[in-house]
Amino acid sequence: MDAIAAVTHPDPYPYYAVLAAQRGLVYDQRLKLWIAASAAAVSAVLAHPDCRVRPMAEPVPTAIAGGSAGQVFGALVRMNDGERHAAPRLALQRALAGLDPGVVHARASELAAALGRRRGSGITHGFAYAERGEAGAGAGTGAALPVDELRQPSALSAWMFAVPVQTVASLLGFPDAQLPQVAAWMGDFVACLSPLASEERVGRAHGAALALLERFKTMLRGVSASDAQAGSLLAGVLAEADAAGWNNSHAILANLVGMLSQTYEATAGLIGNTVVALMREPAQACLPAAALVQGVMRDDPPIQNTRRYTAQAIDIDGVKIEAGQAILVLLAAARCGPSAHGKSQDAPLGFGHGMHACPGQALAQTIAAAAIEVLLRNGAPAALAWCYRPSVNARIPEFIAEQESA
Ligand code: HEM
Repeated sequence: MDAIAAVTHPDPYPYYAVLAAQRGLVYDQRLKLWIAASAAAVSAVLAHPDCRVRPMAEPVPTAIAGGSAGQVFGALVRMNDGERHAAPRLALQRALAGLDPGVVHARASELAAALGRRRGSGITHGFAYAERGEAGAGAGTGAALPVDELRQPSALSAWMFAVPVQTVASLLGFPDAQLPQVAAWMGDFVACLSPLASEERVGRAHGAALALLERFKTMLRGVSASDAQAGSLLAGVLAEADAAGWNNSHAILANLVGMLSQTYEATAGLIGNTVVALMREPAQACLPAAALVQGVMRDDPPIQNTRRYTAQAIDIDGVKIEAGQAILVLLAAARCGPSAHGKSQDAPLGFGHGMHACPGQALAQTIAAAAIEVLLRNGAPAALAWCYRPSVNARIPEFIAEQESA
C-alpha cells in the first residue's frame, strides 16, 4: 500500500488514518513525493500561496502540450494560479451559484430516469435517450420507473457517468439530441488528464477537445438575452465573465469545456460510491438521498487526493521543502486522523479547501442525489460486485457481475 495505491484499494481508510496521525509533511522515498495527510497539513498546503497547482516548468503536461486538449488544459481555472485564476474563478463560482437547485434537480432526475430505461442491448453513454428523443418522459411522476436495466453492472457503470455530464451539458444549453455525443467527447477528453493515458487516447482527446470547443463557439454565437433570463448556465458564465472583467474568449471557451470535465469523473464517482454504500448497507436506502450523498462525500469521497508544487522554498509546521517539489495532498485522509471528532478543521475536504476549492459542490451533490433517488424508486440496487477504475486520484467503482469478481 502507498498513498497512490490507496485510491483504488478496497479499504484505504485504516492506512490513511496511520498517515494522518503523523504531524506535518512527510517525504515518501518510493513515490518521490511529499505527503500531506493530517487535516492541519492538508489545509496548510492548500492555503499556502507558494504551493501551486502546476509545476512551474510544466504548466501543461508534456504528453498533451501542443494539441487542442493541451490548449484547454492550459487555460483551466483549476490549473492556474494568480491572474489567470482569480477573475475566471469568480465568474465560474458566481455563475454556478446562480443555478436554481430545483431546476438542476428536475433536469438530473429526468435524465437519470430516461438514461436508466430498459433498452435491451447496446448500452453506451448515450443509450436510449437521444435516439428516441424522449427526454425524461414519465420522470418526475414519483411512480416506480422502469430503471431495471440498472441491475446490469455495465449499464449501471455507464449510467452513473452519463447522468452528471449530460445534466451539466443540458444546463449549459446543449440540445437534448446532442447530449450523448457531448458525453462521449468528454469521456475521450478526460482520459488524457490521467498520467495512465496511452498515446492513442491522447490523440482522441485532442479531437474531442477541438470538437467541444467548436460546439461551444457555435452556441456562444446563438446566446441571447432570453437565454440569460431563462437562467442558462452558459449565459450566466458570459454575464459573470463580463462583470468580473474576464474577456479572454479562448479561456472562457476552455473553461466551459472545463465545467464538463470537472463534472465528469468526480460526480460519476460520487454516484458510484453512494451505490457502493447502499450495497454494503441496504438499510441506508430509507435515508434521504441528499444525506446519503453527503455521508459518502465524508466517508468515501470520489476525489481522494490532489497535488501541489512548490514555487519557492516553504516551511510548513517546521518542515522545510525546497522549491520545485511535488506534494500529494490526501484530501480523503485528512478526516481519518486521531482528532477527527467533529472539530471544524475536521470538516470533510473532498471538495478541496482554500483558493481552489470546488465551486461545483452544490451542483454535484444535487445531481448525485437526484440520480440516487431515481435508482431507489425501484428498491435497493442489485447486489453487484465492483472493482475500482485505475486512477491516481479518483475513486470510481466499476460494477461487475459476482462471478467476474471471483
Ligand atoms: C462530486 C463531484 C465533485 C468533486 C468531488 C469535486 C472536487 C473538486 C476538488 C477537490 C477541487 C479542488 C482541486 C484542487 O484544489 O486541487 C475541485 C475544483 C474545481 N471543481 Fe469540482 N468537484 C466535483 C464536481 C464539480 C462540478 C459539477 C463542477 C462544475 C460544473 C466542478 C467545478 C470545479 C472547478 C471549476 C474547480 C476549480 C476551482 C479552482 O481552481 O478555483 N466540480 N473540485
